[in-house]
Amino acid sequence: MACPSSRFLAVALLLAMSSFGASAYPALGGYMPVSNVLEHAEIIKDVMAFADALAGESPDYAKAKKIYMFGAGNSCKSPSSVRTLQGFAQKDLTGESFADKFIAGGFPAKFWDAVILAALDGTADFAGAERTKRVTSLKKLVLGVCNFYASHELEAAIKKVESGDSADGSGSTLAWDEGWAFYYGSEPDGAEAAWGAAVEYDADFAGNGSITVSTQIVAQFNAGLHFVRNSTASLTNATRARDTIYKLWALTYIRAALKYVELSETSYNGKVHAEGFAWYMAIDGFVASYNASAAKAMRDALDISKPSVPSGTFCAVREQMLQALPAMGLDCKALGTFKDSTLTASCPSVCNVSATLQLPAGRYPAAAVSASASSNIDCSAAAGTAAAAAAAAAAAAAAAAAGAASKQTTAVSAAVSFSGASMPLMAVSLAAWATVWS
Ligand SMILES: *[C@@H]1O[C@H](CO)[C@@H](O)[C@H](O)[C@H]1NC(C)=O
Ligand SMILES: *[C@@H]1O[C@H](CO)[C@@H](O)[C@H](O)[C@H]1NC(C)=O
Ligand SMILES: *[C@@H]1O[C@H](CO)[C@@H](O)[C@H](O)[C@H]1NC(C)=O
Ligand SMILES: *[C@@H]1O[C@H](CO)[C@@H](O)[C@H](O)[C@H]1NC(C)=O
Ligand SMILES: *[C@@H]1O[C@H](CO)[C@@H](O)[C@H](O)[C@H]1NC(C)=O
Repeated sequence: MACPSSRFLAVALLLAMSSFGASAYPALGGYMPVSNVLEHAEIIKDVMAFADALAGESPDYAKAKKIYMFGAGNSCKSPSSVRTLQGFAQKDLTGESFADKFIAGGFPAKFWDAVILAALDGTADFAGAERTKRVTSLKKLVLGVCNFYASHELEAAIKKVESGDSADGSGSTLAWDEGWAFYYGSEPDGAEAAWGAAVEYDADFAGNGSITVSTQIVAQFNAGLHFVRNSTASLTNATRARDTIYKLWALTYIRAALKYVELSETSYNGKVHAEGFAWYMAIDGFVASYNASAAKAMRDALDISKPSVPSGTFCAVREQMLQALPAMGLDCKALGTFKDSTLTASCPSVCNVSATLQLPAGRYPAAAVSASASSNIDCSAAAGTAAAAAAAAAAAAAAAAAGAASKQTTAVSAAVSFSGASMPLMAVSLAAWATVWS
């Protein structure tokens, strides 16, 4: 990604920035990290490259698979080690509360990898599937994986608070920041990332007291960060913020499932079916852990191998899903009703909640912290190959062996690169810059 033509501009910007002294880590939307998560957030650039490979009439499944497995070189652990979407999908998160709900709900630990590979290869439920079903499913499934992996970071953050590893910039705070980075991405306004689904389905289900997930979840991420920072740490409150985030995710993905099961019933096409199928997978196991029958009803309704969604499916599955909400600490008022629903009026009236569901208090973003050098690493040379994946695996193993504190703020490497979009957000010291050019 290095772009020589931008280097003069970069130097000019650095000179301008140096007159302000230390810089802060850039805000990611309404969230202010206290550690360097630029590379983590850039996983969204792999998601975008993956979607690009699948664009058009003749999707390049082989190219998309290569990006999925070996990375596109955007999200770097080091110049020689690439973070990959498959790395997320293959990580066994058994023992963590969010993942354990999926496992309790009947999902194998690596279910994401299995379904994504099936869609890429056109096998299993995707054997003979039309292009639109495969492509739409894939684009949403990889965001579901990012969302799932974000839960891992929230869980890790809380464990690190327990072990006293909670200084700003590392340990619990870095992990919590990574959770937001994987959920929100590095693009302006969280574009292309899982958070965008919250925005979309908030709008679809707005009104009559329904919860606006996209804003409430920011406040909960901010609160959680506060409660995993050393001087304000609270295990109880951090855990509550984490669990509230999970509930808010449930609202988003249940909304999507309801919307698309209805659209699939009223005017079937592979795209709306696949959207419902794929978004629901991001929460299916969570729902199933609370109510197996309701979760299965929705899963069956959106089974991607089916060619249509029969009349009557929506009302039946809606009724079951609404009855399953209280066990999750949610209700039908918080969920809301799809604004363009044509069938709801004909469904059994099962939403009669009177009290407003109260979320725990959220918080404003943290104050910006002074940041030392944080550069955009270029690992593109290491991406896209099995060798790079092996290097990444070896690095991960070494990091695991070396203990939990391996993900320290990344030092400036010899492979600094600047892309136009992220340049003003970066804080690189002149000394570090000089070493790059000497
Ligand atoms: C805060 O940091 C100190 C020293 O790094 C550590 O001993 C202590 O356990 C930390 N406190 C919490 C609540 O994590
Ligand atoms: C709010 O509820 C009322 C009464 O049930 C209904 O007529 C109206 O359409 C709802 N508005 C929205 C935005 O859902
Ligand atoms: C945790 O949250 C409760 C309820 O909002 C609050 O009263 C309490 O002070 C918080 N604890 C800490 C340590 O901040
Ligand atoms: C589970 O959902 C069913 C509807 O599918 C409902 O009848 C039942 O009460 C729910 N059980 C729990 C524990 O939420
Ligand atoms: C909702 O209505 C049903 C049927 O009238 C009733 O059995 C149930 O208790 C009501 N639930 C609530 C939460 O009011």
